[in-house]
Formats: sequence, structure tokens, C-alpha cells
Amino acid sequence: MKVIIGIVAGLGLASAAYAAQKLGEYQPERTPEVVYAKVCGYCHGKNVGPIILGRTLDTDMIKSVTRHGRNGMPAFRPTEITNGELDALAVWISKSPTPTKEHGK
Ligand code: HEC
Repeated sequence: MKVIIGIVAGLGLASAAYAAQKLGEYQPERTPEVVYAKVCGYCHGKNVGPIILGRTLDTDMIKSVTRHGRNGMPAFRPTEITNGELDALAVWISKSPTPTKEHGK
């Protein structure tokens, strides 16, 4: 009986995930490396934004600037970068080593 319940529950979860994915709501969280490369790295390290890696920047400051923007930097909403992704990203940036291939002020 337990096995049958498990299978039914599993099918239910799988189809719910499938339905959410079809609606475009389901997105697995991306790793900090991916978010940085795809989003932040568009400007930071490319002479548009200041270098933010290797500076042990405060994680709360990183999260605040990301959510609210600052001067030339746009704000990013939770629909663009989830809270979970941002938490991990802030820690990753703060702990990152000094970059060797980046350009900026
Ligand atoms: C469109 C270009 C652009 C993108 C994309 C961008 N930034 Fe920025 N960012 C800037 C600019 C320009 C500044 C400098 C703002 C100022 O003059 O105060 C900045 C400033 C910052 C600062 C403050 C740095 C300091 O020295 O005080 C942090 C932290 C930061 N960005 C994090 C991020 C993170 C994290 C992402 C990715 C989620 C990101 N930025 C994406 C352009 C960008």
C-alpha cells in the first residue's frame, strides 16, 4: 500500500512540476557563478560597473544594491533573481578571490 501511495504522490508532484514549467513559473535556481556570468558580469569586470569580486564586500550591501539599483545600475526584482539565488550570490561575491581577467575601476 505504501508503495502505491508513494507512486501516486510521485506522479502528482511530477505533473505539478510539469504544469508549472509549462506556465513558465517553474525555474530551478541558478548557481552564483551562472547568475554572475549572465547578469552581473555584463557590466562588472567589463569597464561598465566597478570590480565587485575580491573586495570582501558586505553581503547586505550587495543584496540591497541588487534589489534597489544605484545610479547606473538597474534594480533586479525577485522574478529576475530569486531571494535564494541572491543570498547565495552575495556570499559568493563577498568570498570571491581577486579576479585576474576583469577590467574596471
Ligand atoms: C547594466 C550594468 C550593470 C549590471 C547588469 C549590474 N551592475 Fe552592479 N553596478 C553597475 C554600476 C554602473 C555600478 C556603480 C553604481 C554607482 O555609481 O554608484 C554598480 C554598482 C554595484 C555595487 C556597488 C559596488 C561598490 O563598490 O559600492 C554592487 C555590490 C553591485 N553593483 C552588484 C551587482 C550585482 C550583484 C549584479 C548582478 C546581479 C550587478 N551589480 C549587475 C552596473 C551594473
